[in-house]
Amino acid sequence: MIFYFTGTGNSLYAAQTLAQQKQSLVNITDVAKTKEYNYTLSKGESVGFIFPIYYWGLPTIIEEFLDKLQISNYNNAYTFAVCTCGENIGETMKVLKKRLSARGFQLDSGFSVAMPDNYVILYDIISKEAQHEKVQKADNVLEQISRIIENKEKGVYIINKGMLPGFFTYFVHKFYTLGRDTKKFYVTDTCIGCGKCERICPVNAINMVNNKPEWHGKCTQCLGCIHRCPVNAIQYGDKTIQRGRYINPNVKL
Ligand SMILES: Cc1cc2nc3c(=O)[nH]c(=O)nc-3n(C[C@H](O)[C@H](O)[C@H](O)COP(=O)(O)O)c2cc1C
Repeated sequence: MIFYFTGTGNSLYAAQTLAQQKQSLVNITDVAKTKEYNYTLSKGESVGFIFPIYYWGLPTIIEEFLDKLQISNYNNAYTFAVCTCGENIGETMKVLKKRLSARGFQLDSGFSVAMPDNYVILYDIISKEAQHEKVQKADNVLEQISRIIENKEKGVYIINKGMLPGFFTYFVHKFYTLGRDTKKFYVTDTCIGCGKCERICPVNAINMVNNKPEWHGKCTQCLGCIHRCPVNAIQYGDKTIQRGRYINPNVKL
């Protein structure tokens, strides 16, 4: 059983590739809406967690999910995690392992997979050619991970932590947890009022008011609303207007 979260499809692609019709996929965005936190494993079934890295740490939606998750018949099932990222993940695996352990789950192996970076608030999206190259490299890593998890190999950590991993995970990540304000999101006149952003927001931070989206409170910052808007009408601050948009080319979102 693979639990995944995705804003722009990289983690969905990783989840679909690793599941290969053998494992069921549970979308954490759906869980956040249905509040269905109880799952039952069949005999010998593995558990996987696949999600994007946010500021060298866990997305808040993953933290909330792990706090509530209940798995019947867990019995020390083989458990792995895959973090998709633009480059590196700091000490996230350590943080995840501790969090899982507090809930009675183990972490047997963990991986990071670099994919195109979707943090358009800070950087522009890389060119289509560079995206293609990065996704191809990710395919090789996913193939390797697939073999490892198929064989239920334990203690395998293939991770790019980056420089000063502790500093980024235990200090810089706090700016994410304490931030996540939605005040800088807005919509331009090109908005067609389709309501897709409201429907896909995993944390219900968007409401359509007079046929236009309005943001409220804090969000998990998946940036799905910006990237998946069919007319690129959603902006954040003054930088995203001249930047590209990204959805993993191998998935349907
Ligand atoms: C809020 C935010 C923070 C991010 N922080 C990091 C980071 O610390 N390190 C990194 O390599 N990539 C970072 N990224 C890039 C994403 O982790 C990466 O693009 C990921 O594959 C997106 O997955 P998704 O398409 O499943 O949403 C960040 C993206 C967002 C939106």
